[in-house]
Amino acid sequence: MTLSDSPLGILDSGVGGLSVWREIVRQLPHEDTLYFADQGHIPYGAHTLEEVRGFAAQAGRFLLDHNAKLIVVACNAASGAALHYLRETFPTTPFVGMEPAVKPAAEHTHTGVVGVIATPVTFHGDLFQTLAARFAADVTLHTQPCPGLVEAVEAGALDTPETEALLRRYLTPLLDAGIDQLVLGCTHYPFLSDAIRQIIGPDVALIDPAPAVARQVARVLQQRGLSASPTDRLRRHHFYTSGDAAQLAAQARALVGYTGLVTKAS
Ligand code: DGL
Repeated sequence: MTLSDSPLGILDSGVGGLSVWREIVRQLPHEDTLYFADQGHIPYGAHTLEEVRGFAAQAGRFLLDHNAKLIVVACNAASGAALHYLRETFPTTPFVGMEPAVKPAAEHTHTGVVGVIATPVTFHGDLFQTLAARFAADVTLHTQPCPGLVEAVEAGALDTPETEALLRRYLTPLLDAGIDQLVLGCTHYPFLSDAIRQIIGPDVALIDPAPAVARQVARVLQQRGLSASPTDRLRRHHFYTSGDAAQLAAQARALVGYTGLVTKAS
């Protein structure tokens, strides 16, 4: 078996990275995947940058031990806290990270006002500060930390009155400020898109970076000569969690229709 036949590794604190996983599987149908949900440590957003760095390194090590050829850090919090560190620690492994899509939002805004929602720790990282300074100098950027939303998605509470109330509380100040672009800066949030759309109405653009990340994965694979060769065999997908396997299996089925292998990581 050559390295190009090895799986892609994808990691997140929980099920949020599945919003990236589904896009990768759609765009790259010949690739096998390993998905690691670090549900033993969720939410990352409630931890310090140093702690998140440690969790991400452990998750990265797990995926490499299981033969991943490239790792997608499908978590804004972990990318902000740990992407540089992961690249230094595992120098031969290609990593693709996430960052809130401030650049396209700043390019497309007509009102000149852009909103970003993310977990608190994402706004603390250097990555976000750099991003804001580089791409949002000419627009007004409103950042809104959203504690509680990751937990709502993990619980499958996508359209409950409690989740709607939380979303309304976080989004109303952004709408009052006149945003016409809303950046989803956490991979859990695309699963709340319908509920968010109900609140923001049809005129505010909702930006999910998953399609751009999947395109970036395809580019890196190609540059490194690591793309899987198209064959007739069925693709293999395997999900792992540092939490409860039965729970992840139920979540993955409900969120992205996944019915394959789910194993407790040991
Ligand atoms: N999906 C993760 C992100 O994109 C959630 C982080 C967390 O667990 O707080 O940031």
